[in-house]
Amino acid sequence: MADISERDPLVLFMPSGKRGRFPVGTPVLDAARQLGVYVESVCGGRATCGRCQISVQEGNFAKHGITSSDDHLSPFGPKEERYERVRGLAQGRRLSCSAQILGDLVIDVPQDTVINAQVVRKAADERVFDRNPAIRMCYVEVEEPDMEKPLGDLDRLKAALASDWHFDDLDVDFHLIPKVQQILRKGEWKVTAAIHKDRDDDRARLIALYPGLKNEAYGIACDIGSTTIALHLSSLLSGRTVASAGTSNPQIRFGEDLMSRVSYVMMNPDGREAMTLAVREALNGLIDKVCTEGGVSRIDILDSVFVGNPIMHHLFLGIDPTELGGAPFALAVSGAVQVRSSEIGLPMNEGTRTYLLPCIAGHVGADAAAATLSEGPHRQEEMMLLVDIGTNAEIVLGNSARVVAASSPTGPAFEGAEISSGQRAAPGAIERIRIDPHTLEPRFRVIGVELWSDEPGFAEAAAVTGITGICGSAIIEVIAEMYLAGLISEDGVVDGAMAERSPRILPNGRTFSYLVHDGEQRITVTQNDVRAIQLAKAALYAGVKLLMDKQGVDHVDRIGLAGAFGTFIDPKYAMVLGLIPDCDLTRVKSVGNAAGTGARMCLLNRSYRREIEETVRRIEKIETALEPKFQEHFVYAMALPNKVDTFPHLGTVLTLPERKALVDASGDGGGRRRRRGRE
Ligand code: FES
Repeated sequence: MADISERDPLVLFMPSGKRGRFPVGTPVLDAARQLGVYVESVCGGRATCGRCQISVQEGNFAKHGITSSDDHLSPFGPKEERYERVRGLAQGRRLSCSAQILGDLVIDVPQDTVINAQVVRKAADERVFDRNPAIRMCYVEVEEPDMEKPLGDLDRLKAALASDWHFDDLDVDFHLIPKVQQILRKGEWKVTAAIHKDRDDDRARLIALYPGLKNEAYGIACDIGSTTIALHLSSLLSGRTVASAGTSNPQIRFGEDLMSRVSYVMMNPDGREAMTLAVREALNGLIDKVCTEGGVSRIDILDSVFVGNPIMHHLFLGIDPTELGGAPFALAVSGAVQVRSSEIGLPMNEGTRTYLLPCIAGHVGADAAAATLSEGPHRQEEMMLLVDIGTNAEIVLGNSARVVAASSPTGPAFEGAEISSGQRAAPGAIERIRIDPHTLEPRFRVIGVELWSDEPGFAEAAAVTGITGICGSAIIEVIAEMYLAGLISEDGVVDGAMAERSPRILPNGRTFSYLVHDGEQRITVTQNDVRAIQLAKAALYAGVKLLMDKQGVDHVDRIGLAGAFGTFIDPKYAMVLGLIPDCDLTRVKSVGNAAGTGARMCLLNRSYRREIEETVRRIEKIETALEPKFQEHFVYAMALPNKVDTFPHLGTVLTLPERKALVDASGDGGGRRRRRGRE
């Protein structure tokens, strides 16, 4: 490298913020490489792939001491002109392999360089990440065979990859060796090699080979939930999500919740095989679906990343999850897993790789690790609580200094199971509900109908969907609203005395119910429903409190609610119920499918794999079942919102009812905690 002087142009790359001085005439791509700024390149600087596009930010950047101008790049040369003529270049875009530095510059590296006008579908989360995928596409022109030089075709290919791309010690997947000669000849000695290199100290490996310039490669990122599976197909070269698809997890037919699936494995000799097959079949179906939607061939998928809770993770890999069914909840493998996709029943390209994020603990899985990566409690100063509520709540609490994690067996009540009128979120399910505190009359919305139930036209619109039950988000709301309207006490007892004020309070044996809707389906909230939600929320809150104890904090600064349930619940109602601790409501956010986002990050940038592997090693795992304080927190958390904890932030947006102690006539006592298996 030439000596750098203070007089050499200063170049700042955005959005990375990396900067350095380079001699006049340095190609921008070389400058980026030297600074470790990721700029894609497939053709190796031949100005044919168009992947290395950049643009110049013009202006005076006083903070950086840079006056940046288009003129500080060399004018279009013949190579760029040819590319623009043949393929077209958007206004302001340059090819960084051709454009040379002439003066100070601020260079924008766009993260969305789209070649061949691929179909772009909106993914659930369109966050754009820095890219540095584990797969590189490398075009080379290979020397033709010569009688004088008896070097093999593969060896000449390796020599070309060493000289053009600096892969000096390349491994080769065996499946390619019988095909190399044919591919080289088909491409007239011009080929594109797909090179896999995950860790810096890994040997690079040739995993696929294409004749000619292969200017695209894809990857999939997938979250295997116990209820639903979500899969995204992304371009490894542009980072764009090309198609997304989801389906329900077919393992549900073996058991609704995770524990019953473990039981199924224990009771049925072929149970594990059947569930592994079921999930892999569903994944293959989803891969076909996203490929059709995106106009992509399966063999062009070269990398894949999967996350899931420990039991999903094990069943997907074909590992018996029995050990996860009881203490000490031993994982077969907790670290990240690297395999070939063909080894786990997902045929794509023969060379396709699969990466699974590490699991945090025996009941806090790779999905929680991925959500942590996505939301980054470990990257910030503030104390952040991240909760993924499913049949098992995975809880992570921490900041850059320390992160702790646990799970709480909340059971399926939040998903509508164990609730008399509960159902999964589907057309016809009540999803929002309000109760007038004076008349005690409800009004609600159902999925599939835009109108509230007290608006004109609702009955006609709802005739199509029916009014069939209450889904998880509305169960939270209806119980919180009943509490706010004085229909239930802080101990969760439905107040029979309110029957004098409203015909909606109905006797139900020795307890009372609230009638939400009387139609084809009679929808009520019973005393048992309230109890089921109390037990679930108390389990969650007690887990959160244990983690807060470990961190020595009495409040959290931010809360992220992950997963489908987290997307739909209203944080205010979650707090009224005491499901989550008090926090500034503007700082409580749904973080969507954070696990899926974390998987996508690991697909598009291998440095995120290292980040989460390192973070998971640091996370302290708390086993709630072993903590003596859990039961105490649990009992306090049975009250609405809590027996001992105060909710000052919540108090600024609404007034919580006066305490009203009632006796639960069901004999349940309300404080008895059902132990569920770890899920
Ligand atoms: Fe291929 Fe610049 S690297 S066009």
